[in-house]
Amino acid sequence: MANNNTWRRSSRFALLAVLAMVFGRFAAAETVLITGANSGIGLEFAKQYAAKGWTVIATHRRDTPPKELADLAREHPSVRIEKMDVASVEQVKSLAAKLRGQPIDLLINNAGIFSFLDWMAPSDPNQQFGTLNYDQFDEFMHINVRGPLVVSEAFIDNVKSSQQKKIVMITSTLGTISTPEVATRIFWYGTSKAAQNKATVTLAEVLKDTDVIVVPMHPGSVRVEKQADLKNPGMLDTPDSVRQMIATIGKLTKRDSGKFLLYDGSTLPW
Ligand SMILES: NC(=O)c1ccc[n+]([C@@H]2O[C@H](COP(=O)([O-])OP(=O)(O)OC[C@H]3O[C@@H](n4cnc5c(N)ncnc54)[C@H](OP(=O)(O)O)[C@@H]3O)[C@@H](O)[C@H]2O)c1
Repeated sequence: MANNNTWRRSSRFALLAVLAMVFGRFAAAETVLITGANSGIGLEFAKQYAAKGWTVIATHRRDTPPKELADLAREHPSVRIEKMDVASVEQVKSLAAKLRGQPIDLLINNAGIFSFLDWMAPSDPNQQFGTLNYDQFDEFMHINVRGPLVVSEAFIDNVKSSQQKKIVMITSTLGTISTPEVATRIFWYGTSKAAQNKATVTLAEVLKDTDVIVVPMHPGSVRVEKQADLKNPGMLDTPDSVRQMIATIGKLTKRDSGKFLLYDGSTLPW
């Protein structure tokens, strides 16, 4: 009788251990691909998802792997560093070919440019009416608008084959048309973010009959490295913004697809 009980107890324990292993494997199987992951918001996403045990595909456009990502990959073996300039269709397609068959639960289109001058410069003549630089306009559109679309198109099968099936576009309220926050000093940035918003809503509509969730998200005004000296009221530290975005992303459902969301999950006007 005692032997029977011991056997039952140990087989129950073995079953629980197997379940824990299987569950653990699934829990650890989530994968995020982040563009522009070597600084600011992208780097912080990589750090926080790596700390949660996700597989992180951290992409950058540099000729050699940036030190920040190399350090992170040393600390977390689940971080994989890949080169991908989102303005280069060839580079995007090449990485997509390399990652064919790899499910991507969450694709974060984060890479973006704000200015070609020092971010803290009071005004960028290239983006001011009267001295607008149209070559730079093309570059803004290539990186901030075409880039996220090229990446989404190239990796859509990876997203569709995953568990979570989410695409998040990091955009900005400086691309909002209905509010007074008009970016007159940064003409190209605001224009490109408005176009990115429209492209994102269009993508959400195109994918409406699938399980894929597509969301444009404003991270808030974030004190990333390049604007570390800014003391504007309401600015968020990068870890705080990203922590809140990760919580919001975790709760996304198909009903959110196509909504313009703030980092905390509230809905923004267009
Ligand atoms: N910080 C804010 O307050 C704020 C507010 C609203 C929206 N956003 C958006 O948040 C996103 C991240 O910006 P951030 O504030 O974290 O600034 P950031 O530190 O400058 O990060 C931008 C990242 O994008 C990368 N990148 C730029 N062009 C690229 C390209 N062609 N291919 C691949 N990567 C490229 C940059 O790489 P390099 O280092 O090589 O240039 C950098 O890693 C952007 O889309 C930005 O518009 C930021």
